[in-house]
Amino acid sequence: MIIGIPKEIMPGEARVSATPETVKKFIADGATVLVEKNAGAGSFYFDEDYINSGAQIIDSAKEVFEKADLILKVKEPLFNKTYDTHEVDLMHKGQHLITFIHPASPVNHQMVKKLAANGITSMTLDGVPRISRAQTMDALTSMSTCAGYKGILLAANAMSKFMPPMFTAVGSIPPAKVLVIGVGVGGLQALATAKRLGAITYATDIRPAAIEQAQSLGAKIVDAGVPSELAIAEGGYAKNLPKEWVEKEREKLRETIKDMDIVFCSALVPGKVAPILITEDMVKEMKNGSVIVDISVDQGGNCDITPAGTTEVKHGVTIIGIKNIPGMLPSSSTWMFSNNVYNLAKYLIKDGKISLDTTDEIVKSILVTIDGEIVHAGTLEAMQQ
Ligand code: NAI
Repeated sequence: MIIGIPKEIMPGEARVSATPETVKKFIADGATVLVEKNAGAGSFYFDEDYINSGAQIIDSAKEVFEKADLILKVKEPLFNKTYDTHEVDLMHKGQHLITFIHPASPVNHQMVKKLAANGITSMTLDGVPRISRAQTMDALTSMSTCAGYKGILLAANAMSKFMPPMFTAVGSIPPAKVLVIGVGVGGLQALATAKRLGAITYATDIRPAAIEQAQSLGAKIVDAGVPSELAIAEGGYAKNLPKEWVEKEREKLRETIKDMDIVFCSALVPGKVAPILITEDMVKEMKNGSVIVDISVDQGGNCDITPAGTTEVKHGVTIIGIKNIPGMLPSSSTWMFSNNVYNLAKYLIKDGKISLDTTDEIVKSILVTIDGEIVHAGTLEAMQQ
């Protein structure tokens, strides 16, 4: 089994899909690992460390894609300007790919069709189910943890005030108020980080279990009043709310966010477009100098005017719509990501080969293309719309 670790080509992407530590583990398991030159440098993992772990350093991405049986990447395949060709076209029939593909997202449909047409067996990390035996493989949870932590640091930096209370010779300054909308993995980490920085924290969610967890982190609860039968789907995940309930929730939030210094948006129903919970009108009513961080931006964003991929000041509010927040914490996010991917690959490799039991819940949920076909249910549904 030859495992290929190409350097990521998305502009500004500092992460890499293997650390010297995971390379060592793959080699101990009997694999050969090819790492593209400088692939880990952005995360402060250097070629000599990979060599010391037993990897071969390869000069060109082309050669890595050509020789590997399994390609591990962080981001979905993209157009490679160096070769003037798409990364999918650097791959070959029968090759396996594990990465975040976000296959249901319309911008990726062409690429997914290409993966099928080129005969690549592709697996997406955003499909790993949140079940206990898949916890060590759940890179989305890891990346949401990074986004929650770093997202609050970005907000604290962008905010025009102190975060903790200050008692100075000229008077006292009250602590900042932080509201987290959607307290899943990212949101809970955001709450914990804001609390550690000295803010007063508030939280809202539509799942009672999430509310309980937020309370245990010391947050005050903003009750959206959504009946749980409307909020919870099979498996305990949140459901998309009917339109009138989204409107009710917005009205509730309208009052709350007027008083906030930071609003952290991480409300999402897996595989769906993010609900819009903050409209432009509501932003206009917020305090000057306050901040919105919208980490749901990849799924469209929870705020109607989040600038996708960047930060802008609108109506006196700094709105952060940066898409790759985990990449701003590259050593930790790479360390977590690489271990998740190692655990997933180890689960799939039997006797030196990838063996896919398509009746297994984990395999079923991550598989996107196989034998020339697109098999991912969410993607097929999105493609028909
Ligand atoms: P999660 O599924 O753990 O949490 C989402 C939470 O939103 C759940 O608790 C759910 O109950 C809640 N929710 C759903 N509808 C709601 C509504 N109408 N009102 C209030 N709460 C609602 O998701 P996770 O892993 O925390 O990710 C959150 C978002 O962050 C996702 O969109 C994810 O793709 C994104 N993300 C973004 C990153 C970035 O760099 N921008 C990095 C990692 C994740």
